[in-house]
Order: sequence, then C-alpha cells, then structure tokens
Amino acid sequence: MNVNITPAKSLRGVVNVPGDKSVSHRSVMIGALACGETEVKNFLMGEDCLSTIRIIRALGVDVQVENSRVVIRSDGLETLREPGDVLDAGNSGTTMRLMSGILAGSPFYSVITGDDSLRSRPMGRVIRPLVAMGAEIMARNNNLLAPISIKGGNLKSINYESPVASAQVKSAVLLAGLFAPGCTTVTEPTKSRDHTERMLRHFGARVEVDGTKITVWGKPCLTGKKITVPGDISSAMFLIVAGLIVKGSEIVLPNVGINPTRTGALQVLKAMGGDITINNPREVNGEPIGDITVRSSKLKGTEIGGAIIPYLIDEIPVLAVAAALAEGKTVISDAGELRHKESDRIATVVKLLRNFGAGVEEFTDGLVVHGVKKIRGAVCETFGDHRLAMSAAVAGLAADGETVVMGAECVHISYPGFFDTLKKIAVQ
Ligand code: S3P
Repeated sequence: MNVNITPAKSLRGVVNVPGDKSVSHRSVMIGALACGETEVKNFLMGEDCLSTIRIIRALGVDVQVENSRVVIRSDGLETLREPGDVLDAGNSGTTMRLMSGILAGSPFYSVITGDDSLRSRPMGRVIRPLVAMGAEIMARNNNLLAPISIKGGNLKSINYESPVASAQVKSAVLLAGLFAPGCTTVTEPTKSRDHTERMLRHFGARVEVDGTKITVWGKPCLTGKKITVPGDISSAMFLIVAGLIVKGSEIVLPNVGINPTRTGALQVLKAMGGDITINNPREVNGEPIGDITVRSSKLKGTEIGGAIIPYLIDEIPVLAVAAALAEGKTVISDAGELRHKESDRIATVVKLLRNFGAGVEEFTDGLVVHGVKKIRGAVCETFGDHRLAMSAAVAGLAADGETVVMGAECVHISYPGFFDTLKKIAVQ
C-alpha cells in the first residue's frame, strides 16, 4: 500500500496514542503466568502484540480479546502446555526473545519462528544465557538465528552479565528466572527499559534493582491484576516531532507513558529547543504517565550518544528527521544496535534522509545529520519497517511537495490508524 502525504500548514488537535507496545506484550505474557484473571485495558491491537496473544493461546492459555480490552485466565507458572505447531512471532523481536525465556522455563518442546526480518535478527544473545540456565536450545546458523527450538524445564538460576543493554535480553533471562529455584541476576552495561521489572513487581514477584543489576526470586506466586496500558511514548514521538517541525502546530497527547527509561528522545528534543511540556504526571500500575503538549519550535543540532541511547533507541529514525530540519549538525553515536532492528536502521535512515535532500554521513555505530532549511517531498521505500514508514510520513508533512510512503501497511505493527490520525490533525 502506498500512502501520499501532502505538506501540512499546521497540525492541531488532541490525540490519544495507542497503548504501549512493550507494556502490552508483557501484560499478556506475565498475565499468562499469574493465578486468576488479568484484565488489560488500552492493549495495543498492533500486529506485534497480536502475535504475542496468538502464541500465548497456542500454549493453552485462555485469552479473550474485545476491542482493546484483553482478559487472560491462568493457573500460574505451570499453566502453559506444549504447542501442537510452530509458534509464529511475525515481525516481533520482543515476542520472540521474551517468549524464549518463558519457553526455556516450561517443561516441553516448542519451536518459535518469525518473518524474514525477524529470522535475520540476532538471537544468540538470548539463546546463550538460556542455555547456561539449562534449557536445550537449537537454532539456525550455529544457534544464532530463528527458527529456535527449545526443550525447556529444570532451569537453574544464574548470574548473567549481559554484553548488550537490551531489555529483551534482560527480560528473557528474568522471565526464565521465574521458573528457576533461587535468585537469577542480570547485569547490563547500561540500563535498558525496565517495564519487565515494574510489571513483575506489580504481579507480586520479588525483584531487586541495584543500579544496572536486577535480581528476580524464582518460583513466585504471581496473582492476576488489572492493568491499564499507558499510551506509547514511541508512537507519540512521531506526532511530537511532527508538531515541532510543522509551523504553527500545537498537539496535546494525553495519558502517555513517561517511564524515564523511555523518555530519552524528549530530553534530546528539549535540548534541541523543542517546546514540549508534560502536565499532570501520575502513575498507573507502576508506570509513570503524563499529558504531553508540543508546539512548533526552531530546533538546533545536538549530540546523542552514550548511556542515553537505550532510552531512545526506537526514536532515532524520527529524531533524525527532526535533525534534518534543525540548524547545524546532529551527531548520533554508540547506536550500533540500530543495525539489528526491524531493518538496518542506520542504513535505512540514511537512505530516507538523503531522499528528502538532507546531508547525512553514515558510520558503523551511528550517523551525522546536517540540517537544511527545507526538505523536498520524496518517494520513500520503507523496507517493511514501521518506524521508518512513520518517519517518512512525518518528514513529508514538513516537506515541499508531495511524499509517497511505499509499503505503508507496516505501520500496523505498532500504530494502526496512524495515517488517519495524521489526516485528522493536519490543517491543509
Ligand atoms: C523492547 C526493547 C528494545 C526495543 C524494542 C522493544 C522491549 O529492543 O528496541 O522495540 O519491549 O523490550 P532491545 O532489547 O533489542 O534493545
């Protein structure tokens, strides 16, 4: 599907962004390990989270879905049953990596696979610690790539030093740790998003956090809970950048997650001169949320690197669009992880920005964007990558002339209704 984007005079309105993808996945997975009923409101009905629901159902758990309300009924950690067929995680890295942790703890045989993109993403990072815990795992290309086959059960707890700051790796080990007697510890090089830790606590697990070291106590008695999923800050960020770069804009985004391990892009955009305010900060089920207002602003280039990278890793494509229209240059470094996302996001972002006429240099672990006064509309390939498609659309709103987003259906991965929302808030 191709979507045409015409430049907007301004963007104005109130938008309720869909539920957070990371929190939605975890609510169903952890709900499936908790005794009793878990009710999730504002669940993200995007393709990735639907893959998680399909897999949890294939493992014998009762999951009811009605609009964005999901109800999971389980008898606890030992509820999951051997699936009758291969489990399909689709495009979702979170599904494959976190579920691998749960499957490693479960005493049966399973095989998990995914689409072309997911089958080319690194899985050795989760397989290695899960094998160290005692799971029998085989995977393609010397245990590095999916499909992954797992014979789980009888795990022992470990103390794992993760070589990458990845919430998916950390979460896979912590979830496996639920099935192992004793304490399982994961230490990260720098802190990654902490939704798993927060949600496990919410469900009654004992989790201790000491800087970058997280410990979970095995064999907990988790109990079903009510969860309201915050609006997804990563989805909100497309509208935030659009609001900043399209003149005369003001957009209000209520109930968005502002977990500090996710808000790196807000910090960066504010440092670039972005007029962004957070009102009414509060907490729902252990996650901070707030109402965000953004107004168009004159941006200047900046430097992005170091420990903030995991707090904004998914936002780099759209931050690069902001940088393309900022005064001066923006240097993004320490972001080699981008090469292992739904597409090689260093290469694909560089292509995208060049298409729009911005000056970009590519490096192994990042990119340098030279801001320009005006970008020109472009025909954009999106490589099946939802965040690239939305970044292209945002750039198109601020460009001269028309933009075509090719393969635009991939936005369904994380933001169904994205293009309708743009239409509603765009003043032509
Ligand atoms: C996620 C963690 C991040 C992020 C992804 C979602 C999660 O991946 O990029 O979109 O929900 O745990 P990594 O753990 O690979 O950094």
